[in-house]
Amino acid sequence: MLKGKTVVVGVCGGIAAYKAVEVVSRLKKLNADVHVIMTKNAEKFVAPLTFRSICHNPVITDMFEEPKIWDIQHISLAQKADLVVVAPATANIIGKVAGGIADDMLSTTIMAAHSPVLFVPAMNDKMYENPIVQENIQKLALHGYLFMEPDTGLMACGTSGKGRFPSPERVVDYVKEILMRDADYEGLKILVTAGPTREPIDPVRYISNHSSGKMGYAVAKAALERGACVKLVTGPVNIAPPSGAEVVRVSSAVDMYNEVMKSYESFDVIVMVAAVADYRCASVSEKKIKKSGETLTIELVKNPDIAAELGKVKGDRILVGFSAETDNLLGNAVSKLALKNMDMIVANDVTMEGAGFGVDTNIVKLIKRGGSRIDLPVMSKENVAHKILDEVLSIRKR
Ligand code: C5P
Repeated sequence: MLKGKTVVVGVCGGIAAYKAVEVVSRLKKLNADVHVIMTKNAEKFVAPLTFRSICHNPVITDMFEEPKIWDIQHISLAQKADLVVVAPATANIIGKVAGGIADDMLSTTIMAAHSPVLFVPAMNDKMYENPIVQENIQKLALHGYLFMEPDTGLMACGTSGKGRFPSPERVVDYVKEILMRDADYEGLKILVTAGPTREPIDPVRYISNHSSGKMGYAVAKAALERGACVKLVTGPVNIAPPSGAEVVRVSSAVDMYNEVMKSYESFDVIVMVAAVADYRCASVSEKKIKKSGETLTIELVKNPDIAAELGKVKGDRILVGFSAETDNLLGNAVSKLALKNMDMIVANDVTMEGAGFGVDTNIVKLIKRGGSRIDLPVMSKENVAHKILDEVLSIRKR
């Protein structure tokens, strides 16, 4: 399954290092070309020979060891890798990469890699919760580094909490997902809505929201990268659309509704990321409204709910929506999923740091029809987009 793929596994010095043996073994069984780099401390937990015997490649432990070919090695492995997996990733390696430090073979390879890099953190729960570690994770996620969330439970140090290495099976499943993405949307047509809408009050004023368009544009870009044919219906934003998409710029919710309803039929997948205004002004003043009394009342009327309308006519198209919430995240998201007849909803607590409007990262939960739920850790919006697209494909296959 992974024939022709090169995976570099970076093993750090934590008790979970022994679990990396199973990760390497599973990757090898899937026919990946696996190379292991161990930090100095990792060698105290597992012998390099163990990894060498499984992956059938030399295990790199020291950049300055004889023969001195470290520069060739780090460049070649960093260039050759289709994926670098750091498992277990200690607070130390996360901190080093976040701080731009490359002082051993593993940190150097990570810094020089062109491929995606997946960190699988495992450490004491207090260490994992440490705000410095969390800030480092956020910073790296922002730069596109991928993270798996540790499991919660009893740890080697005797305490119980969040910090356990996830099961090697789950790690390898995620690796497969990342490596199999290449062109899995070829032949599929995807319609994405993005950005805010503007509801005019008079010729100079409007009602809108803080949506930056980043999440929707990231979905469009990810789908293009995976070979989809993409139409992006976007409200007014200040970012450039990804090249290759058919872009239709709209302003109000009604404009967006008309554009989407006109074209949805020819699409296989529809992802509604736009933050559409629920209400518009009952009448738009032709002239600029003048300042007069102490209060001003504007009457609003309901906008069409594009997602809900699509839900009624979607047939077997896959419909994905977003649920940006400030409270009762899951309750609101689950009821919208049903109400709008969506196949999946992306629940997004916009009050959390690192999530929501304007920022480059997001923290979301993917809830599918039927109730299954995936809680994602903080990720760049591009990586959230890829996870959404992964799940859409899994729904299509069912
Ligand atoms: O009900 P709420 O606005 O929170 O629903 C959010 C989801 O519905 C998003 O996917 C959004 O794009 C979509 N939506 C829509 N038309 C509206 C309001 C929301 O398509 N008028």
